[in-house]
Amino acid sequence: MSSRDQILSLFRRRGGEFLSGQEISQALNISRAAVWKQVEQLRDLGFEIEARRSLGYRLLNGPDLLLAEDIEAGLQGDLDWTLTCLSETGSTNEDLRLLAEQGAAEGTVLVADRQSAGRGRLGRRWESPAGINLYCSLLLRPQIPPQQAPQLTFLSAVATAEALIDTFELPVRVKWPNDLLVNGRKIAGMLNEMSAESEQVHFVLLGIGVNLNMQASQFPEDLRYPATSVLLERGAVVPRMAFVRTLLEKIDKFYREYREEGFRVIRRRWEGLSDLLDQAVRVDLNPGTREGVVVGLDEDGALRLQLENGQIERILAGDVAPISGEQEKEPAGN
Ligand code: BTN
Repeated sequence: MSSRDQILSLFRRRGGEFLSGQEISQALNISRAAVWKQVEQLRDLGFEIEARRSLGYRLLNGPDLLLAEDIEAGLQGDLDWTLTCLSETGSTNEDLRLLAEQGAAEGTVLVADRQSAGRGRLGRRWESPAGINLYCSLLLRPQIPPQQAPQLTFLSAVATAEALIDTFELPVRVKWPNDLLVNGRKIAGMLNEMSAESEQVHFVLLGIGVNLNMQASQFPEDLRYPATSVLLERGAVVPRMAFVRTLLEKIDKFYREYREEGFRVIRRRWEGLSDLLDQAVRVDLNPGTREGVVVGLDEDGALRLQLENGQIERILAGDVAPISGEQEKEPAGN
């Protein structure tokens, strides 16, 4: 951890009380002059720090930085989370893949303040400006055969939806396979990737992007699908910290249920969050289309469609839209 993060974590543990310069210098093993320099740098970053000759320093206010130690402090659950928060990277999925290939443990998480090459599904770009949203990738090593790995995509969608609902009270719905929508606009997306042999999964990366404080003008112009953010839905800037912690706790909870009870719980929760269950839909299979009624999810995440002749067809890929609405189109990015 950098000296900056260590000082911040000391401040947070002290909960608004003064910390003497000597305490800080001892805890970090740096000189009093170096402590002063660090405090000045924090002020430059937007932290409001009061200095009093006899008492030391105290943190009054700070920007919404994502710091690993802050996020990890007091996290509940089974998974042994190991977080790294990067101020900037290309793509957290790319970075985590390299770490996973080098043997990183289950529960390793990368969070980035900004991504310069954020990736969406189907080779699309994921707009990832600094300081406002959540871009993270989580490493799991489930003991499952590769054909079950898509189930974890539904796990991440359900966990993220519940975190958004619990933290911000938003009416989040899922769109097959794994987009999260609020009032028909995309608020979050999942890019999950796996490495496997024929019988066994080595690892699964859950890549999660959530539009938290994105302004309308910050979305790319070429989006074919309307996007939104918590800021746009709630009309106020929201803190990222509380959301990340809730998200990790939800993933932990659903992953435990998944290990104990299999896909059943996640499937039921996903179906409860879907607007398309029991609805007539048209699926654009590109090429070709199918029409039918959505009757649920299969074990491998395929959408079960009941055709007019009563047969069940499994949809593995395609763009699903309600026949009445017609407005839902495959999202192009955020
Ligand atoms: C989608 O197209 O809906 C999926 C978007 C996934 C974006 C996240 S942000 C964190 C992680 N790193 C990436 O490069 N992409 C995923």
